[in-house]
Amino acid sequence: MAVRKFKIFRFNPENDSKPSYKTYEVECLPGWTILDALNEIKWFQDGTLTYRRSCRHGICGSCAMQVNGLNGLACELQLAPYKKDPIVVDPLPGFEVHKDLVVNMEPFYEALKRVKPWLINEDAPPQRERYQSPEEFLELDNSIACILCAACTSSCPSFWADSNYLGPAALLKAFRYEFDSRDKGFEERREVLDNKHGLWRCHKIINCFHACPKGLNPTGAISKLQQKVVTEKW
Ligand code: SF4
Ligand code: FES
Repeated sequence: MAVRKFKIFRFNPENDSKPSYKTYEVECLPGWTILDALNEIKWFQDGTLTYRRSCRHGICGSCAMQVNGLNGLACELQLAPYKKDPIVVDPLPGFEVHKDLVVNMEPFYEALKRVKPWLINEDAPPQRERYQSPEEFLELDNSIACILCAACTSSCPSFWADSNYLGPAALLKAFRYEFDSRDKGFEERREVLDNKHGLWRCHKIINCFHACPKGLNPTGAISKLQQKVVTEKW
């Protein structure tokens, strides 16, 4: 058991005129994650600390936050690699703070809706499933593994500068359908993609790639979508 220090962003807009940090000392067991430490604080030291979490298995995406300046999932980030105290925990940047580590995710979900994240295909359904070969599936480059945690979009300076920018997560979702062999939605999605708040806002900073806890590559997906838009246009 080791005592670790955590410096945590605190802000309750109902009571506080400005944000501040509060430092907590926690006795941590080997193998603990950032989320284990937050739970220890909330359950045994300060019940007012507010953050999102659900699955504790890197699946629901709700515990995304910033730790020592880098976005990640609190339930996946082990404490051991953080050698220096205090470990600084902040909410995801680029979003309005509701309270402490909880941010307003509505703009993120609105951007997602704008790319129509569903299969568009008006053809009469076949007798069995709409078949996709293993080779066609590989074209999706594992983009179906996105858990919509927002770590990528929140790490993107282009998103910080333009709140109307779709952002890497929504564009990765557009890629997931645009490069699905069964989808025929290009004309419906073209306008929102081929737009200064869409594909052309990306400056290939690649923060999204480094932030993604699932090892996905939104920058690469955006490049492929840009090629597709240009090719189809001319
Ligand atoms: S691409 Fe990665 S970082 Fe972005 S929302 Fe999906 S899982 Fe999270
Ligand atoms: S609690 Fe679900 S991803 Fe961390």
